[in-house]
Amino acid sequence: KKELQVAIDGPASAGKSTVAKKIAHRFQYVYCDTGAMYRTVTLKAMQEHVPLDDAAALAEMLKTTQIEFKPGNPEQLVFLDGQEVTMAIRQPDVTNNVSTVAAQGTVRKDLTERQRKIADAGGIVMDGRDIGTSVLPKAEVKIFLVASVEERAQRRFKDNAEKGIHTPMDVLRDEIQTRDHKDSTRAISPLTQAADAIRLDTTSLSIDEVVDKISDIISKKQ
Ligand code: C5P
Repeated sequence: KKELQVAIDGPASAGKSTVAKKIAHRFQYVYCDTGAMYRTVTLKAMQEHVPLDDAAALAEMLKTTQIEFKPGNPEQLVFLDGQEVTMAIRQPDVTNNVSTVAAQGTVRKDLTERQRKIADAGGIVMDGRDIGTSVLPKAEVKIFLVASVEERAQRRFKDNAEKGIHTPMDVLRDEIQTRDHKDSTRAISPLTQAADAIRLDTTSLSIDEVVDKISDIISKKQ
């Protein structure tokens, strides 16, 4: 069977990573969470007091920045310069600052190169905002996952509760919309559906239904 590149893009909290992980598991492909990479860079910049919109300073910082994914149970673990940051990069302050860092061209160029190297391994499921449009434009399978803002805020609320984070629903709704707006309107590789991507609205679908639909698409192309 052919080892494919599967690109899963879409707005915040549309269920990309949950679905991408399950698909990677089903097909025994490598999973790459590119949002985690942007989050990790944001965390380091905050820790080191690098201005989040200073493209040159961020580029300099990235020269000595190591980001690694390691298998964990049940979640893949994320390491920044040898330190585990899996939980730290999901904290609200990182979430609310990441779009500023992700808008910097130097950061996008650096992380895009790292992402393409990870994809060289063979079968890959990569999720993010610009995978189908920019990182892996030749991906055989491109999915654009969407869901209503209300549904996404509810999903984030539940996720947060499990992590002990208690942000009210109306704040989550605002945060999601603000982040989508920033990600969609930035100058460099903004969030947008690739012309050849399949749009899947997950508002009224279960995770398994979404996974099955995408798996069918992959199976037909293998
Ligand atoms: O997917 P996640 O919500 O973890 O992504 C966090 C942020 O990282 C996004 O809001 C976006 O600003 C940035 N990002 C990006 N390009 C990607 C993945 C994430 O700009 N491919």
